[in-house]
Amino acid sequence: MTDVLKTLVVLGARGDMTGRLLLPALVRLAGAGGLPPDTAVLAVDRDPGDDEAYRAHARQRLDAHLPDRDEKASDTLLEHVSYRQADVTSADALRAALKGAAAPMAVYLALPNVLFRPTLEALAGADLPAHTTLVVEKPFGTDLDDAKALNALIARSFDERDVFRIDHFVAKQTVLDVLGLRFANRIFEPVWNSNHISRVDITWYESLGLEGRANYYDRAGALRDMIQNHLLQMLALVAMDPPRSITERDLRDRKVEALRAVQPPKPDDMARATRRARYTAGTVGGKELPAYADAEGVDPARKTETYAEVTFRVSNWRWGGTPFRLRTGKAVGQERREIAVYFRSVPHEPFDDHDRPNVLRFTLSPDAIALELNLNGEGDPFDLERVSLDNSFPTQELPPYSLLLKEILEGDPTLSIRGDEAEELWRIVEPVLSAWERDEVPLEEYAAGSGGPKGAKAAPQGTAGRGTAGRGTARRGTAAGDDPRSG
Ligand code: BG6
Repeated sequence: MTDVLKTLVVLGARGDMTGRLLLPALVRLAGAGGLPPDTAVLAVDRDPGDDEAYRAHARQRLDAHLPDRDEKASDTLLEHVSYRQADVTSADALRAALKGAAAPMAVYLALPNVLFRPTLEALAGADLPAHTTLVVEKPFGTDLDDAKALNALIARSFDERDVFRIDHFVAKQTVLDVLGLRFANRIFEPVWNSNHISRVDITWYESLGLEGRANYYDRAGALRDMIQNHLLQMLALVAMDPPRSITERDLRDRKVEALRAVQPPKPDDMARATRRARYTAGTVGGKELPAYADAEGVDPARKTETYAEVTFRVSNWRWGGTPFRLRTGKAVGQERREIAVYFRSVPHEPFDDHDRPNVLRFTLSPDAIALELNLNGEGDPFDLERVSLDNSFPTQELPPYSLLLKEILEGDPTLSIRGDEAEELWRIVEPVLSAWERDEVPLEEYAAGSGGPKGAKAAPQGTAGRGTAGRGTARRGTAAGDDPRSG
C-alpha cells in the first residue's frame, strides 16, 4: 500500500468500541493535522438511519468519551462521515454498502469477536478493490485454532502487508521507548541478557473494574484480555534481538523470533508459575464496587479471573535463566503499570552489608523511565545510598489509537501484529488457559481496592525516585517497590 487511503469503512459504527475508542482517536488525529482533509469515513451498522442521525449519535459518543475535544476537528471529521445500514455478515449487503466508496479503502472491524469470521466470509464475496486494507481489533480470536481460522480467512481476500491487527500497547510511548533505549544507546545492549539481568517483571494493575463490559470480559478474563496480547508484546520488545531497521519486516521478524522462544510453564509447574484470582466487593478510589461475581452480566460459574499472573521462560541463548513474570489485575487499589528490569548483584561487593541490584523501570501512564543506582551517600561518603535517575514524560502527543490510525492511513503496518505473531501469542498462553479450565490452579480472591491477591505486592507508582521528577533528575532515597532479590 503506497497510496493514501481515501475511505475508512467502519463496520460496527454504532458499537461500543467505535464510540469509546475509534471516534475519539479520529478526532484527536484530525486535531493534530494527521487526517488528510479528503478522507471519507463510511460508518456501517445494522440499525436503520441516515447520515444526520449517525452524526448526532457520534456527537453523543464524543460528548461521553472526549468531552474536551477540538470542536473544529470533530466538526470537520463528522462532515466527512456518512452512514449505511447493512448486515455486516452478508456479502450482498456489504457490496451494496461499499458501492461508490472511493478506493483505496480500509475496512475496520470494530466488531465483537464472534462476528469476525462471518464478516470476513462476507467480505470475501463483497468485491473489494485490490489492496484494500483490513483492520482487526483485539482479541484476535479466542484460541489458537480460532486465530488460525481467522488468518486463513483473511488470506483469502487480503495481502498480509495490508492487514493491521491492532494492539494499542505497541503504540504507547514508553513501550516504544524500550526500542530507543535498547537500540539507540550503546550502554544497555551489552548487559541485556541473563548474565546480567536476573528477572523481568511486567505489571499492569489498574483500578478500573468491569466498567459494564461483562459481555466481552466474562468470556475473556485477564489472561486473554491483557497477557495474551499487551503484556506479551512488551515482553517481545524487551526480549527481542536488535533488528536491522525499525520497519515492518525487520522489527516484526525479530519480535516473532523472540516470541517463538517463549515457553509457557510446564504442566506440572502450572500451580507454581501461574496465579489467577477474582475480586470480591470493595472500595476503589472512593467508589464501591460489587464483587465481580455479582456484577451484571457475569456468570460466576465461568470462574473468569480478573487477576492473572504467569512466569514465562524465554528459551534462547540470551535469556536462559531469566524469568519473565507477567501479571495484571483489575480493581487493584494502587495502580501500577510498568516494565521492571532487575539486574544481578555486582560480582564482588566492597561496601559492607550492601546488596541492592540495579533496576531499570519503564513506567506507563504517567510515562517515566528510571534507573535505580547505588551511590556514595551525602552524609557519610562510605555509606551507600539508593539514587534514581529518572525522567518523566509529558502525556503522549498523539494517543496510541490515533497513532495507529495514522499508521493505517499511511499503510505502514510496523506497529501492528502480523498473522504468524498472532498465532504465536496464542500458542504461548493456551497451555495456561487449558490448565485453568481444568481447575488445576485454584481461583483465589482479593478485595476490590486491595493490592491484589495475597503476595501480589502492589507497590505504589511513584515510589522513591519515580513519579513527580521532571526531566533528567536524580533523587536520593530508599527505593521501594519489589525487593529485587526475591523471585
Ligand atoms: C484494553 C483492555 O485492551 O486495554 C482493558 O481490554 C484495559 O481491559 C485496557 O483496561 C488498558 O489500556 P489503556 O491504555 O487503554 O488504559
